[in-house]
Amino acid sequence: MIVLGIETSCDETAAAVVEDGTTVRSAVVHSQSVHAEYGGVVPELASRDHLRKIGAVAAAALRQAGTGLCAIDAVAATSRPGLAGALLVGCCFARGLALGAGKPWVAVNHVEAHLHAAFLEDPTLRPPLVALIASGGHTSLFHMDGQGGMSLMGRTLDDAAGEAFDKVAQLLGLGYPGGRAIEQRAQRSAVRPVAFPRPLLGDDSLDFSFSGLKTAVLNHVRRAGAGGGGRMEEGGIDAVCAGFQDAVCEVLAEKLRRALEYAGCARAVLAGGVAANGRLRLAAGRAARQCGATLTVPRPALCTDNAAMVAACGSRRLAEHGPSPFDEPVSPRATWPRYRGT
Ligand code: KG4
Ligand code: ZN
Repeated sequence: MIVLGIETSCDETAAAVVEDGTTVRSAVVHSQSVHAEYGGVVPELASRDHLRKIGAVAAAALRQAGTGLCAIDAVAATSRPGLAGALLVGCCFARGLALGAGKPWVAVNHVEAHLHAAFLEDPTLRPPLVALIASGGHTSLFHMDGQGGMSLMGRTLDDAAGEAFDKVAQLLGLGYPGGRAIEQRAQRSAVRPVAFPRPLLGDDSLDFSFSGLKTAVLNHVRRAGAGGGGRMEEGGIDAVCAGFQDAVCEVLAEKLRRALEYAGCARAVLAGGVAANGRLRLAAGRAARQCGATLTVPRPALCTDNAAMVAACGSRRLAEHGPSPFDEPVSPRATWPRYRGT
């Protein structure tokens, strides 16, 4: 089965062609640069830029896959969660293509799509599994049962992990998005990392909280910068980045370990944009090994927003639930049932 995937939920306009839910034949991503000067995504600008780029991006994906619409079996697009206007652009485009070509269309959940990047990384991967999805908009632990049904084990109570990376980068003057910049500064740090709190680690829930950590960084930066006319010296910024990254990675990895133990699961997945972080990949690998589980982490290009994961998720949805109706709503929010144990 060959599926064309379309992704426009936030600030990446992406299209990809995936065969049998596991083989990426092409993947094209246009990352919007219009938001950089605002320090965050501006929804109206995002929708307009998707509209400008989606046609060319989809045409490039088909061309690079050496195929045309007639050889595609279905069109899948992200329909939730995300920015409402941005989702509308991708869904209308995908439905129009599908309707015009006489093919089925499949609405895909963005967070579920992030998880499906793991099936592209390792086609032999099978549920049941526990997945930690950490991105700019979401930080959640899921249990995927043997039939592929997802239930929520824990989630952030405030900021997502990637959002915390971006906000800390902004207050350190490192630009937007900030995850990669913080990782690079942490890597080059030559001094001891600043010690920051590990939020909700003492708590026995599987939930997360990152907004207090962000405030702790802000307070540290204010104190440390006070002597230097408000600006910290470069080595100090590196040490803040290293300390902040350590705190986030330790909390994420430890909660993944607890979730694996709680569910008695032997397979783990780490995905979403923050999973591109090298330190988190190592920490999550260690956490999985501690409970005898194997961890699958997609390569970095499949962790950040892309359409190959949407096509992979669409393939599974189509096979298991059939096509989506052409009046399927798009929705900025999504909900999952709570995990109740195995
Ligand atoms: O999955 P994604 O592309 O978009 C959402 O669905 O939100 O995730 C983007 C997030 C941003 O917050 C970005 O700063 C973060 O992922 N990110 C990273 C790294 N690369 C991207 N965070 C930490 N370390 C990285 N190397
Ligand atoms: Zn995402």
